[in-house]
Amino acid sequence: MSCRYYKNQSKLIHRPLSTGCSYERIGRGKPQVDVLGAGSGGGEIDVHILSGIQAEFPNTALTVDIVEPSTQLSDNFRALVMKTPNLQKIPFSWHIVTCEGYEKQIKDNGASKRFDFIHMIQMLYYVADCPGTIRFFHSLLKDNGKLLIVHEAAASGWDTLWKTYRAELCTKTISDYLSAGDIKVHLDQLGLKYEEHHLPNTLDITACFTKGDETGELLLDFMTEQDHFYQSLNPDLQAGILDLLRNKCSTEKDGRILFDCSLSCLLVHS
Ligand SMILES: C[S@@+](CC[C@H](N)C(=O)[O-])C[C@H]1O[C@@H](n2cnc3c(N)ncnc32)[C@H](O)[C@@H]1O
Repeated sequence: MSCRYYKNQSKLIHRPLSTGCSYERIGRGKPQVDVLGAGSGGGEIDVHILSGIQAEFPNTALTVDIVEPSTQLSDNFRALVMKTPNLQKIPFSWHIVTCEGYEKQIKDNGASKRFDFIHMIQMLYYVADCPGTIRFFHSLLKDNGKLLIVHEAAASGWDTLWKTYRAELCTKTISDYLSAGDIKVHLDQLGLKYEEHHLPNTLDITACFTKGDETGELLLDFMTEQDHFYQSLNPDLQAGILDLLRNKCSTEKDGRILFDCSLSCLLVHS
């Protein structure tokens, strides 16, 4: 969901990531840690993760491969690396392709690098074949490697909103919404072992309920992936979505309406 409010979303997942998974398990006893980020966007979360691994293992070499189809976001990520002193000596390999494109390249080349840690953070709803993508990236793990999937939690506000209005909302970059609950079904069917950490979080969407409030309208655009919520959707649909957001996706506290944007962190073992 890359749009104007995406930065806020990044900030939201920044905090729980640092508590959801321990970096210790990723690098314990290894002379080198090879990391792959799939769908890394502008790299804000990756930089946080890489800095965490480095802090935990200051004497361990790190290599990083990034699979990200957006040239613009990859450029932003490169610029961020340049601004982050502790990351400047790490060798980065930039793959400006989708996960599907990367899989094809690897299969065409016949051999591939393997990784200690692969992460997919809020990107699996963009791939056409979710179980196939998980199976492929899981096959790139070394022994004792970990695949981290961070995704919107089952029964979160996102899940409720996007599944209730699937037909109306899944018409742009997301062709079929899936939550961490759906991803767990795929993991179970693939026979993969994983652990789950729930990451509770809320987003104050009070402004969405004041028509004409600019921030509220931008938030509505972001949450429904519309260019202009009030111009793009018919009045019945607008009313239905606003009612659902308020009464089924949120809680109220001290007069503020707090949207449930909890995440699940699925740590899949090799
Ligand atoms: C919501 S953003 C998440 C970015 C980053 N992981 C984060 O949490 O800050 C989704 C990212 O997936 C990328 N993406 C979209 N389709 C993809 C695909 N088929 N394969 C890999 N990445 C994709 C987008 O360009 C975008 O950077």
